[in-house]
Amino acid sequence: MKLGKLKVEVVYKSTLAHALGIKMTKSNSPNPSRAIEARKKWNRKALNWEKRIRNRSDIVNFESGFERYLKCVEGFLSSETLSYDYSTPAIDVGCGTGAVALCLSKYLSNVYALDISDEMIKIGRRQTGEHGVRFLMGDALSLPFPSSLFQLVCTRGILISHFGTELDELLIYEFSRVLMPAGFVIFDFLTNIDPSEKEIQDKSIYNRNQINSLLVQYGLSLVEYTGETWQRVNAVIGLKKRGV
Ligand SMILES: C[S@@+](CC[C@H](N)C(=O)[O-])C[C@H]1O[C@@H](n2cnc3c(N)ncnc32)[C@H](O)[C@@H]1O
Repeated sequence: MKLGKLKVEVVYKSTLAHALGIKMTKSNSPNPSRAIEARKKWNRKALNWEKRIRNRSDIVNFESGFERYLKCVEGFLSSETLSYDYSTPAIDVGCGTGAVALCLSKYLSNVYALDISDEMIKIGRRQTGEHGVRFLMGDALSLPFPSSLFQLVCTRGILISHFGTELDELLIYEFSRVLMPAGFVIFDFLTNIDPSEKEIQDKSIYNRNQINSLLVQYGLSLVEYTGETWQRVNAVIGLKKRGV
């Protein structure tokens, strides 16, 4: 399997942390130069990011994907039918300025937020203030956590489409790996891109069947999709199967 090969090729060394000049836990990024580029790119965007995600006419919040994702997470965590331990760790991966992490921290007492960009994290720390979110810098493709730690893994902002299909798979593999059995993942994805949407042209797109297959492939089962099928950005909730 392609992904098996990829994992075997993972580069175990401190190159990335060293180059970034910061402390990263176990720097085993599968692609250190890519991670360094991503850090530079997202550091440049950090200052304006918060303003952009809250602006409905900005491409980074098209179809109000930001508000709809938060609503989905809030709905999920406040569901009376959910059997959930509210003190077990949860994580926001690719947390940016921490909006999702902040939302999680209203319900959960043990929230982590990880991003490749130290500038995003700086702003996130300021914004979440006393809410006790634990921020750390790291690569989503190689999460610096042991397996089966989290009960909930969230990622918003279509991180799932950032890397190209093969590395997107590695991302889902990582989500599933760090999830405990019967834990949940909530991520958003894109089903279509308009040629005029220049800023997101490099994203991978997925239809619901493809997302279903990816979930199954990595030991997850579908709980539900949010939004309408005609909407081009939506979230999916997956559940890690027991015994995987
Ligand atoms: C589209 S933004 C979304 C930010 C935030 N989740 C939100 O909803 O506003 C994507 C985020 O992913 C982060 N990112 C990009 N590549 C990453 C990687 N390899 N590992 C961790 N974070 C990454 C970026 O720094 C950026 O903060």
